[in-house]
Amino acid sequence: MAKQFTQEQLRVRPSSREDAVVQRAQEHFERTLVRVRGELVGSVAALEHPSKSNEANYGEVFLRDNVPVMVYLLLQGRHEIVRNFLTVCLDLQSSTYQTRGVFPTSFIETDGDLIADYGQRSIGRITSVDASLWWPVLCWLYVQRTHDWEFAASQPVQRGVQLLLDLVLHPTFEGTPVLFVPDCAFMIDRPMDVWGAPLEVEVLLYGALRSCCRLMKAAQHVQQSRLLEQRLVLTRQWLHDLRAFLLKHYWVTSKTVQVLRRRPTEQYGEHQQENEFNVQPQVIPPWLQDWLENRGGYLIGNMRTGRPDFRFYSLGNAMACLFGLLTAPQQRALFRLVLHNREHLMAQMPMRICHPPMDGDEWRDKTGSDPKNWPWSYHNGGHWPSLLWFFGSAVLLHEQRHKHADALLMGQMKAMLEECYWSQLNQLPRQQWAEYFDGPTGTWMGQQARTYQTWTIVGFLLMHHLLRVNPGDTRVLDIEA
Ligand code: GLC
Repeated sequence: MAKQFTQEQLRVRPSSREDAVVQRAQEHFERTLVRVRGELVGSVAALEHPSKSNEANYGEVFLRDNVPVMVYLLLQGRHEIVRNFLTVCLDLQSSTYQTRGVFPTSFIETDGDLIADYGQRSIGRITSVDASLWWPVLCWLYVQRTHDWEFAASQPVQRGVQLLLDLVLHPTFEGTPVLFVPDCAFMIDRPMDVWGAPLEVEVLLYGALRSCCRLMKAAQHVQQSRLLEQRLVLTRQWLHDLRAFLLKHYWVTSKTVQVLRRRPTEQYGEHQQENEFNVQPQVIPPWLQDWLENRGGYLIGNMRTGRPDFRFYSLGNAMACLFGLLTAPQQRALFRLVLHNREHLMAQMPMRICHPPMDGDEWRDKTGSDPKNWPWSYHNGGHWPSLLWFFGSAVLLHEQRHKHADALLMGQMKAMLEECYWSQLNQLPRQQWAEYFDGPTGTWMGQQARTYQTWTIVGFLLMHHLLRVNPGDTRVLDIEA
């Protein structure tokens, strides 16, 4: 592959070892791709796992694990695989009464039949919500990159969008713009007290609705319809309310926390709007003080009556930058926070999924004594190499959108990304491209981690592509480009 290196990139020595690692990763990646009805459609979750025979679902095509896969394929110009993936998912969108419109968490072809999991087969019979929300985002990224307007305006795509919107845009008991979900509804698919309105789902909802608007607009060019026009108006209003809700109730900085600590409680009545969720000041955790320092900010994990979740979730925060939910200054406050808490969030293996982990009675009560989610492990503060590219792209996209903003901070962010990339480059091949890493510094391969995990491999390849091959390609992720 022909490469052009800038001065800055030359300083971090593109070594022959780097090229060899990348080449091996590309070879592993090719092996993850599978066919359905004879056509390549996407990747299995992992190539190898300890008990291959009875834990077969790592051999399935997970929608969420295929997000980086599809982005990578788009960058490689392998558009037909992305289109096949989108089409198979659409074919599998549920049409039964109770789940109509839901996309499956995963699917597999066995003996010529497509078998999908909507939760009825999963461990714990959990519901996945993120898969359904990712589909329109991926579909729009594909259309935007390829200009396949015919696909965008096609009847199956437009029908899929409407079925999905039916799941969101309807009256609810709470009447808020958030989507209310049970525990385990996204990447964190084991009990972790993430029920209600977890950040990742709500930010993804924001990205999904924005993408649905773009797809509906594409259909409007071909055919005007009053129904479509009404749907667009409603969806835009919803987006506006959702963003306002998240920025009001989830965004915290040192300044906002000081206001929260001194708010009145027990407020009754529509016009009393300082503390709508009746949060007692005592629930604000003391670790926030150092975590936020003076100029950091982030979106907290959840808001529920009386019980906000102040944990930091990497993916939800990174996506809030990518989808433009956070303003540019807020994004920079988030970057400062990550820089300041680098030893926790990046440590030896970037990057930690959520912080801080739960332990003791809290771990027992909220995870149901789940040994896989032991403190510092798996979803409970474990390190997932597959998360780095999301955060990395958020930084790189910010740099492209706001070229001259805070050069000092952005320089530090880029240097940090380079170092994170190098720690992955040095460790992942030795650690067999493990799914996750354990312990306070994330040094150890996860105790129950699968090896040759697809999103670990492809996440690394994406970082390589965006840092070395073509930084301009970060634009592929800009849903408003
Ligand atoms: C685990 C993870 C989930 C992932 C799946 C396949 O269940 O928690 O996020 O999609 O494995 O890799």
